[in-house]
Amino acid sequence: MKISKICCIGAGYVGGPTMAVIAQKCPEIKVTVVDINEQRITDWNSDNLNKLPVFEPGLDKVVEEARGRNLFFSINVDKAIEEAEMIFISVNTPTKTYGKGKDMAADLKYIELCARQIAKVAKTDKIVVEKSTLPVRTAQAIKSILSQTGKGVNFQILSNPEFLAEGTAIQDLLNPDRILIGGELNEKGIEAINALVNIYASWVSKDKILTTNVWSSELSKLVANAFLAQRVSSINSISELCESTGADVREVSRAVGMDSRIGSKFLNASVGFGGSCFQKDILNLVYIAKSYGLNEVADYWEQVILMNNHQKSRFASKILSTLYNTVSGKKIAMLGWAFKKDTNDTRESAAIYVADQLLEEKANIAVYDPKVESNRIYADLNYLNSRSEDENSLLVQVHNNSYEACKDAHAIAIMTEWDEFKDCDWQRIYDNMLKPAFIFDGRFLLDREELKKIGFKSFSIGI
Ligand code: UDX
Ligand code: ADP
Repeated sequence: MKISKICCIGAGYVGGPTMAVIAQKCPEIKVTVVDINEQRITDWNSDNLNKLPVFEPGLDKVVEEARGRNLFFSINVDKAIEEAEMIFISVNTPTKTYGKGKDMAADLKYIELCARQIAKVAKTDKIVVEKSTLPVRTAQAIKSILSQTGKGVNFQILSNPEFLAEGTAIQDLLNPDRILIGGELNEKGIEAINALVNIYASWVSKDKILTTNVWSSELSKLVANAFLAQRVSSINSISELCESTGADVREVSRAVGMDSRIGSKFLNASVGFGGSCFQKDILNLVYIAKSYGLNEVADYWEQVILMNNHQKSRFASKILSTLYNTVSGKKIAMLGWAFKKDTNDTRESAAIYVADQLLEEKANIAVYDPKVESNRIYADLNYLNSRSEDENSLLVQVHNNSYEACKDAHAIAIMTEWDEFKDCDWQRIYDNMLKPAFIFDGRFLLDREELKKIGFKSFSIGI
């Protein structure tokens, strides 16, 4: 079976870049990305490629090449569903904030709405591909909704988890470690799997395309993220031990990572991991384990999250204790708000939690992030509901550059490892700060010796 039209529901961090790359690599396939958020679609269609709703290095070039040729962004969800042979579901699946499974299970309401919409609109057979991160057995739920249509339409459900990391999405999509496709292992299922394999085979070698049953595929996504996050929490736990013993976590990390059985990646101690996947996926894993009565399994993985929460809170506490146990009325500059560099995504960013803790102490926070807009920063803080929106806008100022943010500050906290912070004129920043000038580097971004020479009192995690 050859696919000629694809629809993707959800034009976010996953749907947008993924479809842009598929469209670039498969010019014979018409790819339409739809979203209910009209502003998002307008931004995807913007002539100004700096205005795309997702910032991702290299994305603008791919969009420029394919958009209008075989890549389209639209709010006409029904039309795109109707004409496509293959439909990707790429909507958000946040952690539930209410009811059963609150703070742990994934909220599947957006997925269910999509399935119902597909069921309502489809007149011909469809392959439905789950692209969002979902708890194991979601495919079953989608299938059950779709099979209720009674229109004689056949639906095949595939799981095709996304392993791209934000900030390197285009490279990850162009050159993936593997592509994972789960489907039903019967004749129709295998036909659907092959249709998707053929799309990826346009640019990925076949030995990197794995096919499995649906549940293995769904679970593998959660496990991959849980393992990665576990490495970060493991090295972060050691960072605290290093601070107490005089070891240097970077040296430990290097020594440990050179063991080929362990490997060097994901061993950078930091202020804590963020992003839309790690926490959510582990919570999902914990919830699934609990629902099967596997309490030890659940507790094991939950510890990865607890360690991460501790790391964020420990960083904020360090700022407080170093500033003589009072930050009330003091200006603290936070450089970076995104959960890592090269993205404008702030979901679960450590910066939000560190800021929140300092705001509880009545600090004045001055933020600068090269790609995050001020309304996003206020929305992130307001969402926590720790204090009124008025109080947040009074205590938090957002600036357009590092120099403004750091002017007259008592301390600087580096929250995101943006390259441009390395290139700042740190002497100039120092000269304009209150003394003693403290700097807390949550990302090992700056050279401590250089900072010391200038006169900064500096703190890095794990040293
Ligand atoms: C992750 C997975 O890597 C990706 O495969 C999956 O599909 C989605 O989730 P992402 O959340 O975009 O991707 O970012 P990632 O690069 O994994 O970083 C996650 C967080 O861990 C960031 O906050 C990052 O700063 C932090 N991190 C990463 C560390 O603190 N130390 C490290 O050594 C690596
Ligand atoms: P992700 O990181 O998983 O891509 P995002 O929040 O960036 O998550 O993107 C998900 C997108 O899905 C959002 O733009 C949202 O508006 C869209 N969306 C959610 N539900 C629906 C729906 N029923 N139909 C169309 N789009 C939807």
